[in-house]
Amino acid sequence: MAGRVRDAVLTKLQSTRGEYLSGEKLSVQLGVSRAAVWKAIRGLREEGYPIEAVTNRGYLLPEIPEAITEEEIRRYLPARYRDNGLYLYDVVDSTNIRARQIAAEGEQVHGSTVVALQQTGGRGRLGRSFFSPKEGLYFSIIVKPDFDLRRSVLVTVAAAAAVAEAIESVSGQEAQIKWVNDIYVGGKKVCGILTEGITDFESGQIDHLVIGIGINTTTKGFPKELKDIAGAVEGEYSRPALAAGVITRVLDYLAHLEERKYLMIYRRKSMLIGEDVRVYRGVYRQNPEAEMAGRPARVAGIDEDGGLKVIYTDGTKETLVTGEVTIRRSGVK
Ligand code: BTN
Repeated sequence: MAGRVRDAVLTKLQSTRGEYLSGEKLSVQLGVSRAAVWKAIRGLREEGYPIEAVTNRGYLLPEIPEAITEEEIRRYLPARYRDNGLYLYDVVDSTNIRARQIAAEGEQVHGSTVVALQQTGGRGRLGRSFFSPKEGLYFSIIVKPDFDLRRSVLVTVAAAAAVAEAIESVSGQEAQIKWVNDIYVGGKKVCGILTEGITDFESGQIDHLVIGIGINTTTKGFPKELKDIAGAVEGEYSRPALAAGVITRVLDYLAHLEERKYLMIYRRKSMLIGEDVRVYRGVYRQNPEAEMAGRPARVAGIDEDGGLKVIYTDGTKETLVTGEVTIRRSGVK
């Protein structure tokens, strides 16, 4: 309930940016008490929203959606993360590469984040590139895992839940998750996640993970063929709040990975459960045609370790830990 009042108050203030909205009006329009409105305002201010309050006039969220600066992002971070390393670039080849360098050179880098507004060599999964034009939000969070690395699917699952939640809470737009790590808004992919391990040269063990998250915040400059499948979290909301919201949720979830709190959110927002899909696993090496066509299946759910439970048309069951799936009916890629 409290979360719902918070979201509704934020949406109202965002839609009337630069104008005062009285507490009374808010409480009547939202059908909640003035105390509930005030509590929501207080909570939003604690989250970093610069809401002004003036007696007899009401509440106001300043007009300009804030530029992405280090200071603005920090403002939206909770105290426990406010002093973490934060490296902001207008343009960088890849935030994952930059994060790797920082992790190799520095100490105490857990929780440090590299943010860029454009990438010239954005990396995607499976060796693909990730189109990263300017005005995007590309970032990489460095974490020192204190969990078993066989849990790395869970890391990506936690990150996907964190991004989906942050998008909804900051922009008010409904986000869905396509296993394992793509985020969709309005039926189009708006975010991809690439988690990479950094191996310590001496021990040969993975000592850090870099969680790379690319969120499109505009489709300006996207080529036509990409516009058909890729979307963006557009509109009037605070980009620094979105960056901080993602960082906070990712770090919170990873601190308690085994609790799997994010799984409930992941499942709730999963767009694949119950869908007819094609599974691509690259397993039919002798039969490239079958591989290209994918194997038809229905998605039964997400297991406790983030695996995708599928039932093939011949009744065989499998839990996928890697691989790619596409939805058969609606043609979502
Ligand atoms: C995918 O969908 O294939 C994953 C894309 C991951 C892109 C992000 S953008 C920030 C970080 N830096 C990179 O070079 N890649 C990740």
